Amino acid sequence: MKNRLLVASFFLCCLSACKQKNNSAYSGWEVYGGTKEGIRYSSLTEVDTTNVHLLTPAWSYHTGDADTAHHSQIQCNPIVVNGILYGSTPTQKIFAADASTGEEKWVFNPVDSSQGSNSFFVMNNIRGLTYYKGENQGRILFTAGSFLHAVDAVTGKLIPAFGKNGKIDLHEGLDRDAADLFVTFTSPGIIYKDLVIIGSRVDEGPNAAPGHIRAFNAITGKLAWIFHTIPQPGEPGYETWDDPNAWKHIGGANCWSGFTLDEKTGMVFVPTGSASYDFYGGMRKGDNLYADCLLALDAATGKKIWHFQNIHHDVWDKDLPTPPALVTVTRNGKRIEAVAQPTKTGFVYLFERATGTPLFNVEEIPAPQGTDLAGEKLALTQPRPVAPPPFVRQTFSEADVNDLVSPAEQDSLKLKLASLNNGLFSPPSQKGTVIFPGYDGGAEWGGPAFDPATGYIYVNANEMPWILQMKELPKKTTVAENWGAAGQRLYTTACMGCHGTSRQGSGNNPSLINIEARYEPAAIDALLQQGRRMMPAFKHLSGEERGAIISFITGNKQDKGKAFSQEIKTDSFLDLPYNGTGYNKFLTKDGWPAIKPPWGTLNAIDLNTGTIAWKIPIGETKFLKEKGVLTGTENYGGPVVTAGGLIFIAATSDRKIRAFSKRTGKLLWQADLPASGFATPAVYEVKGKQYIVIACGGGKLNTLSGDTYLAFALNDTSR
Ligand code: HEC
Repeated sequence: MKNRLLVASFFLCCLSACKQKNNSAYSGWEVYGGTKEGIRYSSLTEVDTTNVHLLTPAWSYHTGDADTAHHSQIQCNPIVVNGILYGSTPTQKIFAADASTGEEKWVFNPVDSSQGSNSFFVMNNIRGLTYYKGENQGRILFTAGSFLHAVDAVTGKLIPAFGKNGKIDLHEGLDRDAADLFVTFTSPGIIYKDLVIIGSRVDEGPNAAPGHIRAFNAITGKLAWIFHTIPQPGEPGYETWDDPNAWKHIGGANCWSGFTLDEKTGMVFVPTGSASYDFYGGMRKGDNLYADCLLALDAATGKKIWHFQNIHHDVWDKDLPTPPALVTVTRNGKRIEAVAQPTKTGFVYLFERATGTPLFNVEEIPAPQGTDLAGEKLALTQPRPVAPPPFVRQTFSEADVNDLVSPAEQDSLKLKLASLNNGLFSPPSQKGTVIFPGYDGGAEWGGPAFDPATGYIYVNANEMPWILQMKELPKKTTVAENWGAAGQRLYTTACMGCHGTSRQGSGNNPSLINIEARYEPAAIDALLQQGRRMMPAFKHLSGEERGAIISFITGNKQDKGKAFSQEIKTDSFLDLPYNGTGYNKFLTKDGWPAIKPPWGTLNAIDLNTGTIAWKIPIGETKFLKEKGVLTGTENYGGPVVTAGGLIFIAATSDRKIRAFSKRTGKLLWQADLPASGFATPAVYEVKGKQYIVIACGGGKLNTLSGDTYLAFALNDTSR
């Protein structure tokens, strides 16, 4: 037995060594994240540490539909198949362009094909596309609105034989009535044989659809399997929900960031998010499997192989933000196939791929208790890996207060900090709780890059504190309400969590003050029914309810004194006793993070040893010129590592793309972008020439929106 094991591991070793030599699999970018392993690695070496400074723009493609008024974005990591680049646009179109010239081949606008459809259409970001070769000509699968579309890769036309006239409505086949709930998917699905496996983006509030994972036949669109991320009676994990009926009402536990897949073993790896409502778990007591889990499923059947829950009973929105990277590490001279999962809290968990056994022990640490939110029951412990060390700070103590502001302001920030609940996993509260690392990590959806040659994983991260404040909601009575009271009640339960207590806005959610000057009531009503980008749809509200909210936010005086006729329904799952008052960053009065820099970093972690190899700030602010401090900026979009010794990353808010030495983190090249590249670059080769392309869509962090895909290459004299 022992011998056989030895032989087997020797054989595995050879396999992985061979794989590294045969690098053609990594010279293209046919899949979101480079390959299905999700490692954002390119084997190309034409551009290397000695010539990277000679990179120049090779071509650009303008989508022509940036919407600066609404801070449109392009979060897309494009794919390149047969010399054609496929990407998405700020207003949710997709396009094909020559990957060596940027010349447009076709544009497909899903809104055109949704005319006459009675299902609503939500404007959303498309982070990536899926190419499926099939038997005939290839097709592009992607989600726009609530529909998974199949478009011919050559002609750019819908393929009518897929689903219903080329589309599948993602509300269907969820094993629960989800017709009026918000369901879309910003990330691309992943292909296994003839299946396309997909997740979803759902509401974060109490009215959320369940995040079940589905596989559809990529040719016909027929449902092949479903995995219930919120288990139903008789399924394992069901017992982790105290209320036996929770599964019928609670949503979320969705995979919004996409998948990785091990083609040889047929395992698909699924990172899930928190259960809804995000910040109060009184209606969903228990550990809440399979929310906040890394799931390993059999890609052919959807059967669970193993799972690991990284947050028990999440009340902080600490979703797993990215698919894990499939990696191979060296332990005591042996090669081990593993899976590495970065988290929003700043950990990288490393598991043996086949079994889920942690390669660095995971301890259960007693978690803070005591909450002023009635009915909440927090998990007693939370997991923590013994290595690698966290790649971001996980506490915000008095000593960490931003020292770039005046001493007087530092004092007032310290006072504010002392007044809040603070510490990793400290309970949401009415007095306010510091969320640090923040809602956007730690790690985010850009995902990590992994270098198979060295065993280093590269993770970019944010270090921004936020403040979560919970507010008690008025108890529902069945007493008849007037129109104004109904509008206010509905605003507090449905809108305040994003638009704030006084409609002032919060985070990326705009202010609604004076909204009446910008929108007719009918236009607001349409928006409420459809949603737009990060604003969910509210189809479950009745016309009268929407009308009352619209009167409330527009201060419509005509409706004063009008009666609200709709009976007030009470529902023990939907009537939250508390709601958050908005997504608010903890900032100085000039809008800088209340914590000392760095605010954005790039981290190299050696997965063989479980140590941090290097860490650098990324992104420049005015403090660099004034005080010589490279602060880093918040960043969205991931890195790519290459065999040429480089890491390419944009992601920062200072409109730059950069290349660093993957060994040392030394900056080797940077270039200006037309708008910030809040996306992950794609690195590929066409006709023997290496390109690095980045979507420059801006829009986040109050930056200018853009419409450009910009490709860099060495020009012919420098090649
Ligand atoms: C999950 C957060 C979230 C919730 C909950 C939410 N919104 Fe929004 N809302 C947004 C975001 C983000 C935008 C900007 C959308 C875009 O990108 O165009 C927005 C935009 C709007 C706009 C347009 C503002 C403008 O200047 O263009 C209106 C009006 C609006 N929301 C009303 C509401 C109302 C009324 C509710 C409650 C029924 C609500 N929202 C609930 C996030 C939210």
